Amino acid sequence: MAEDFIPSTDFRSQLTATAGDAFVAEGFDTSAGRVQPSDRPDLADFQCNGALAVAKAAKANPREVATRIQVRLNDDERLQSLEIAGPGFLNFKLNDAALSMRGNAIAGDARLGAPVVAAKRKVIIDFGGPNVAKEMHIGHLRTAVIGESLKRIMRFLGDDVTGDAHFGDWGLQMGQLIVGVSEEMPDLPYFDEAFSGPYPEASPVTLADLGRIYPKTSQRIKGKDLDFLNAARKATRELQQGRPGYRALWQHFVVVSREALKRDYALLGVEFDLWNGESDADPYVEPMIADLEAKGLLVDDQGARVVHVARPGETRKKKLEDGSVVEVPSPPPLLAVSSEGSAMYGTTDVATILQRKTEIQPDLYLYVVDQRQAEHFEQVFRTAYLAGYAVEGQLEHAANGTVNGPDGTPFKTRDGGTLKLHELVSEAVEKAVARLHEQKLGEDLSVAEFNATAHKVAVAALKFAELSNHRLTNYIFDLDRFMTFEGKTGPYLLYQAVRMKSILRKAGEQGLVPGAIVVGEQAERELVLLLDGFDGALRETYLKRAPNILADHVYRLAQAFSKFYAACPVLVGDDEAVKISRLGLVQVVLKQLELGLDLMGLSAPGQM
Ligand code: ARG
Repeated sequence: MAEDFIPSTDFRSQLTATAGDAFVAEGFDTSAGRVQPSDRPDLADFQCNGALAVAKAAKANPREVATRIQVRLNDDERLQSLEIAGPGFLNFKLNDAALSMRGNAIAGDARLGAPVVAAKRKVIIDFGGPNVAKEMHIGHLRTAVIGESLKRIMRFLGDDVTGDAHFGDWGLQMGQLIVGVSEEMPDLPYFDEAFSGPYPEASPVTLADLGRIYPKTSQRIKGKDLDFLNAARKATRELQQGRPGYRALWQHFVVVSREALKRDYALLGVEFDLWNGESDADPYVEPMIADLEAKGLLVDDQGARVVHVARPGETRKKKLEDGSVVEVPSPPPLLAVSSEGSAMYGTTDVATILQRKTEIQPDLYLYVVDQRQAEHFEQVFRTAYLAGYAVEGQLEHAANGTVNGPDGTPFKTRDGGTLKLHELVSEAVEKAVARLHEQKLGEDLSVAEFNATAHKVAVAALKFAELSNHRLTNYIFDLDRFMTFEGKTGPYLLYQAVRMKSILRKAGEQGLVPGAIVVGEQAERELVLLLDGFDGALRETYLKRAPNILADHVYRLAQAFSKFYAACPVLVGDDEAVKISRLGLVQVVLKQLELGLDLMGLSAPGQM
């Protein structure tokens, strides 16, 4: 599957094309002309290492090859200098006129220099993955925040993206709850085998009921209460087979839970296009099992039906209870139908692929889910490939690490519990309020505006902490650190955006209108080079499914602005032309910064 972009006009692409032509003219391959941002920004803006590679292949002297390229490019009107460094690196420095032109081009571009995919693809992003009856906790933050950002980025770059919450509403947990509720509320009509309605509209169970009953049932299963486990399994099977009373009760579980989860996601500004659940794939399960059976992929395993997904030779050692060691297939087989006849987690995932294929026809299925489920996805993907439901490469697990506590293991509250997501957001908002007061920020705002600002600061702190790490990196949850206005934090980014807004507002009051950019100072050069780097940062973010690359770009842009503002007065001085140019620069930097924030799911207030 090609993942490509329409040709771009950033310096990297411009110089790559020019250098490529020069290499061709010297009898080498155009690919040698690949130009990249310089490793030594103090010496150069861009560099090309191609002379070394082609000289080696041609048994020539790399400095001599580099010199031939240099001679061909010497008159390029965009360059201030082109030097040869070390064994034959070409070091490009752009002149102010070229930088001004590029700055103005970005300012005039509705996309602010962002790339566009060459061929629009249909992408389904499966993220969030909350479960019925369980309140979300801090562990749900990562997939929500990373998934939301990837959804926004892929969509903005031109793909047709659908975000699906893939609600966990179908496994053994549902049977557990049915049995748990039947014990606490035996008078409900749903447990009668002959139940056929009427269906009360209001749920007889509340979220609080579910939150109380569910952990109790889990405890009993953990404690090996076999009678309970068997009852839960039986209820699961009967639910899946359509027993009316169970379906009716289950429907209440789903509705009650979904409302609460939606509220939590809304606090974080996370949205889904689809709120499908595992259960929505149910109509696909039976025909799928028949199909897998017909294709000879299902085999018996002690009464269960499994799919062998390991290739010959793919094994790992496993220690048995008697201490002996055996070789077992790795990844282990996918459990398609349990010995009780129920569809399992893997079954619903494969069936969901069929459902999505039928209803959406995605080119790419992207799963933003915890790394600890890597084996599960390996089983699911291999099953889908074996059965021909997807082609190799179409299914992708963009895995994420965990949010850890100071001890380096997944974050727990002081009493050892998990921190609920809405409590986490409230705590962050409280902290944001305190920080704003400490910094004497937001003092001119109305109460409502102040609260809205505090919420934005809180969400920015949480999300940026998440996104500034690579998705696979486990990071330590430290709200105090995330919430400072200095350093690589969300609040810092918002603060810089607010400063830019205030400059532009004051300029407006003075009747100054931002105009064409004329680059003169070093700090201005650096800002334009960063604006130019947006294209490359977004491409890499997209290709690696790694919003931390975008996060880095946005942070560097904010930093470069801060440096610029310290070095280059914008509103003071007599030179009107300089003011107008600098305002133009501030305006485009603000626009790109705000776009970058939006692609990460952050938003800056108007004032602070
Ligand atoms: N509900 C699952 C869990 O809590 C996560 C779902 C992830 N997505 C998927 N298609 N399996 O573990």
